[in-house]
Amino acid sequence: MEKIKIALLGLGTVGGGVKAILEEKQDLIQERIYIKNGRKVSLEISKILISHPEKYRAISPVLLTADFQEIMNDENIKVVVEVMGGEEPATNYMLQAMERKKHVVTANKLAIAKSGELLENVATKNRVNFLYEAAVAGTIPIIRTINDSLVANEITEISGIINGTTNYILSKMTHERSPYAEALMNAQELGFAEEDPGSDVKGDDALYKIAILSRLAFGEWPDLDTIDCKGITEITPQQIEDAKKRGKVIKFLARTKKAEGKIIASVSPEEIELHHPLAHVDGAMNAVYLHCDNAGELLFQGAGAGSRPTASAVVSDLFAVIEQI
Ligand SMILES: NC(=O)c1ccc[n+]([C@@H]2O[C@H](COP(=O)([O-])OP(=O)(O)OC[C@H]3O[C@@H](n4cnc5c(N)ncnc54)[C@H](OP(=O)(O)O)[C@@H]3O)[C@@H](O)[C@H]2O)c1
Repeated sequence: MEKIKIALLGLGTVGGGVKAILEEKQDLIQERIYIKNGRKVSLEISKILISHPEKYRAISPVLLTADFQEIMNDENIKVVVEVMGGEEPATNYMLQAMERKKHVVTANKLAIAKSGELLENVATKNRVNFLYEAAVAGTIPIIRTINDSLVANEITEISGIINGTTNYILSKMTHERSPYAEALMNAQELGFAEEDPGSDVKGDDALYKIAILSRLAFGEWPDLDTIDCKGITEITPQQIEDAKKRGKVIKFLARTKKAEGKIIASVSPEEIELHHPLAHVDGAMNAVYLHCDNAGELLFQGAGAGSRPTASAVVSDLFAVIEQI
């Protein structure tokens, strides 16, 4: 049995999910690797970077480190899974890892949207993978779909509900007539919203994700400043009721298309008809609606966040990396 050693950067919501899935599904994953590649391979987490070593964790302390260089200096570690979040030091750590010929898997939409071009270039230069299926729409396999399954298509437009927090809040306001503040508080109590929900409700999180989808669909990184971005903080129950009277529903949509050689992307609450494919995507669900020239229209729906759904996408990238090792 070949062993592939992995380091996790972060053991929070997503990192904890990755560790749990790799432990619980080791047999299934080995079987799938064997069916696909004809190789007997096991994936082993050999180091985990954390920032608070003093925190109690039900895990062997030998696995933990607060020193990133310990991971860099271990030549047996072939893959670095960045699930610590934030722009820095995460971006710098990913660049260092790729310079050391380690493959990188990440869920960090902020780092990718801000430094995607640099990260891709460093990956190409060092002939390593830089994969980020979990960064957009959580468990929905949208990145592999665009990159692989739809390779014979020009994608003409993408629209989607790609932030679960805001979809939960708007759904609550729509179906239970809750005011915004109450719906937000409810989302926080249920763990669908962060204590500081700014990045979600002001639209930044969806903006990073639509920037990534724009790059994949249209081949270039958009300038983040050119993406129109309006959050949901000003939406009132009255607006939602007025929309209902017109036979419409307000959804927080991210859109991107290319017109006259330019990427036109936006993030904004919009009124859509009740028969629109995204109109009934409710709660914390995400959905991505693709328009392609050959394949036609495709709609994907699934959990956009959460420990296991996001970790499931991270592990799918690990599966893809194995082919390169
Ligand atoms: N949560 C989701 O559902 C979700 C969904 C999609 C994508 N993502 C993305 O996944 C990433 C991780 O999110 P998360 O929710 O798992 O975060 P989290 O629960 O806050 O966990 C972050 C982990 O990273 C560690 N960490 C943070 N900064 C560090 C530093 N400077 N040095 C060393 N370790 C550091 C923390 O260490 P300590 O444990 O010691 O504090 C913690 O273990 C983010 O990029 C996020 O955008 C998350």
